[in-house]
Amino acid sequence: MSINVKNLFKYYGTQEVLKGISFDIEGSGVTGFLGPNGAGKSTMMKILSGVISPSSGSAKINDMDVLVYPKKIKSITGYLPEHNPLYLDMYVKEFLYMTATIYKVPQKQKAVSKAIEMTGLGSEQTKRIGNLSKGYRQRVGLAQNLLHNPDVLILDEPTTGLDPNQIVDIRNLIKEMGKEKTVMLSSHIMQEVEAICGNIIIINNGEIVADGLTSSLKLQATGQVTEVEFLEPPNTDILEREDFVETVNSTKPNVFLVKGCNNRDIRPELFKWAVKNNMTIISLQQKESRLEDIFRLLTKQNS
Ligand SMILES: Nc1ncnc2c1ncn2[C@@H]1O[C@H](COP(=O)(O)OP(=O)(O)OP(=O)(O)O)[C@@H](O)[C@H]1O
Ligand SMILES: [Mg+2]
Repeated sequence: MSINVKNLFKYYGTQEVLKGISFDIEGSGVTGFLGPNGAGKSTMMKILSGVISPSSGSAKINDMDVLVYPKKIKSITGYLPEHNPLYLDMYVKEFLYMTATIYKVPQKQKAVSKAIEMTGLGSEQTKRIGNLSKGYRQRVGLAQNLLHNPDVLILDEPTTGLDPNQIVDIRNLIKEMGKEKTVMLSSHIMQEVEAICGNIIIINNGEIVADGLTSSLKLQATGQVTEVEFLEPPNTDILEREDFVETVNSTKPNVFLVKGCNNRDIRPELFKWAVKNNMTIISLQQKESRLEDIFRLLTKQNS
């Protein structure tokens, strides 16, 4: 299972929306696709699912070019668009059965029941889609994309508009899907991305500005920072001169943020330094680095 994009451009008239982007997603797992409004996320996702064509460059799913094998791509890909269009006059079960028929799913009834169960639609399955709440409509969209058991799932802001309980349920479902499928998900909720995405790609103004493990990207913004509280104000001049220290910043008279050299965890060295210099440490903890910081750092010129 893989998604490979190489030097891909997309123009809308004279507007260059995707500017030669390249990335690779290999194997199962959930990859977060982030970027400010208008960055080109939905455009990229539409290209991957074969809804629109790139202007140049290539996009491949499981080593098949989306332009060369459009039908095959649709049979192995599930795509949940940003504003998921549904047939509002159809009933949930009827709609899913129709979708399963279009996808030529074997054992349609079984596939529909499984998708209903996975997306928690049991109590709503006999209702008209137009009568469902926003969250349940979103679930119908997800169920629709699970029927043919695709290898690759492309989800454009799947949890937008859901209440906190539904968000948790859908996130868990996506996480579960990620165990056996390649899932690419766009979202503006950093907390969500941190919770479910092992890898992250950030796009800004049509260009990829970050691509890597969520854990290492988070560290890029702030580095490894230790928050240390001393019993009495220390002599920060001598601390700043230590080889293991890059910067020292005070947040309160006795509390300091100490950034380690070479992005390393300096808590053991800091503790030994305090003992050597007769300083008493009250607390010592690794400062949580946030995805929001790296997102803002890499995309702020656009916002
Ligand atoms: N069909 C279209 N015709 C003309 N311009 C378009 C079309 N679709 C998208 N665009 C433009 O392409 C740019 C990228 O849009 P896109 O929808 O890919 O952004 P996005 O990253 O998904 O943003 P958001 O976070 O707001 O969903 C925007 O400037 C948008 O106006
Ligand atoms: Mg979008």
